Amino acid sequence: MTETEAPPTPTPAPASTCRRGFPFPQSPDEQAPPEFSELPTCPGLPAVQLSTGVEALLVTRYDEVRAVLSDDRFRREPAGRPLFARTRESLALAASDPPDHTRRRKAVAPYFTARDAERQVPRIRQIAAKTADELATRPEPADLVNAFAVPFALRVIAERLGVPEADHAFLRPKVDAMMSTTRFPPEQVRAAHEQAREYFADLIACREAELDDGFPSDDLLTDLLRAPDGRGLSRNELVVMAAGLLMAGYETTSNQMAMCVLMLLREPGEADRLRADPDLIPPAVETMLRHSALMSTGGAPHMAIEDVYVGDTRVQAGQVVVPLVDAANRDPQAGERPHLSFGHGRHFCLGAHLARVELAIGIRTLLERFPALELAVDQAAVTWREGMFIRGPMALPVRWT
Ligand code: HEM
Repeated sequence: MTETEAPPTPTPAPASTCRRGFPFPQSPDEQAPPEFSELPTCPGLPAVQLSTGVEALLVTRYDEVRAVLSDDRFRREPAGRPLFARTRESLALAASDPPDHTRRRKAVAPYFTARDAERQVPRIRQIAAKTADELATRPEPADLVNAFAVPFALRVIAERLGVPEADHAFLRPKVDAMMSTTRFPPEQVRAAHEQAREYFADLIACREAELDDGFPSDDLLTDLLRAPDGRGLSRNELVVMAAGLLMAGYETTSNQMAMCVLMLLREPGEADRLRADPDLIPPAVETMLRHSALMSTGGAPHMAIEDVYVGDTRVQAGQVVVPLVDAANRDPQAGERPHLSFGHGRHFCLGAHLARVELAIGIRTLLERFPALELAVDQAAVTWREGMFIRGPMALPVRWT
């Protein structure tokens, strides 16, 4: 029996005694809110009110989070009312359900395999080295977020897509607004989406013209255009996909990188251990992914399309649930099972292989290039992003001499 099938003695969902606002207040560090550690051991599914006023049930236990994320009776599109500030159009993949999701994901999945990520290793090393060289020329203390984590992650995904470096300065503020939950006013978020869409529509037209002229670029957008039927993506879907990949590709990785570096600088012994044996970096990255919390919203809201049991709670058709991967990671029942920081099921992070390679290379480059790297401020003085979908330090002042 799976966790979502009816147990022998069904118990209806208890009436909520306390409908708290959700998301809970963020921790002033890389940790998830303290509730994420407590809730997996409490009975039932706690009822909360999302910032949009929608009532939802939180799913926090490891097995139940996995069950919801792989159960077709939970859909994202019906729940796709503006639960958070990001619009559906910016998230064609993460916000869609089969059959659209299946078709869209199939179009791009071959470009994000483990083998593809491995093939990119030499180039990612070069990008990391170049970005570290630029950091070394800065006066100390320098901000590791803006001087390393962001340009490194942005360069990797932008180059893969075919976005010229000259356009990064234009795109960064657009992505900031597009990834905001409450930090930017809705009209600015809408305008940023519009401008990003226009940008990618122009870029794709340009890549198409190069193809027609017989001088194709070597990048993912050109590959998709060259495929006989555009790999099943309409032109509008391709535009949205390109913008979505840029956003998902660097906001996540750059913030996760900054959180990893912060965790390592707090534990100089651990940083030295990784310097001495870089083979220990990939497993250390997994541990840091498990113990940090990247998504400020906790997870994507899903709506039940029929009555479904989650554990022994009956979720009724039309009810919204939010599976919290960072709570699942803290469930004592999770033990040593794989962390869920890249999600689970059909929406499992498309860029997980690439992200793992980037994090390992970025961390190794920093540790080797800056043997005396340290925080230039007290950890308590590090400020954290607020009102943004992805969590991370606003800035990480470091010195290295
Ligand atoms: C440390 C870095 C990263 C983390 C922790 C991360 C985490 C996640 C998580 C948890 C999901 C599932 C979200 C959900 O269920 O709604 C997801 C989905 C996704 N990620 Fe990542 N991600 C990272 C890096 C990347 C990169 C580098 C890319 C570049 C392509 C990427 C592209 C995507 C896409 C396109 C989806 C949507 C997949 C789908 O809905 O089928 N991510 N990511």
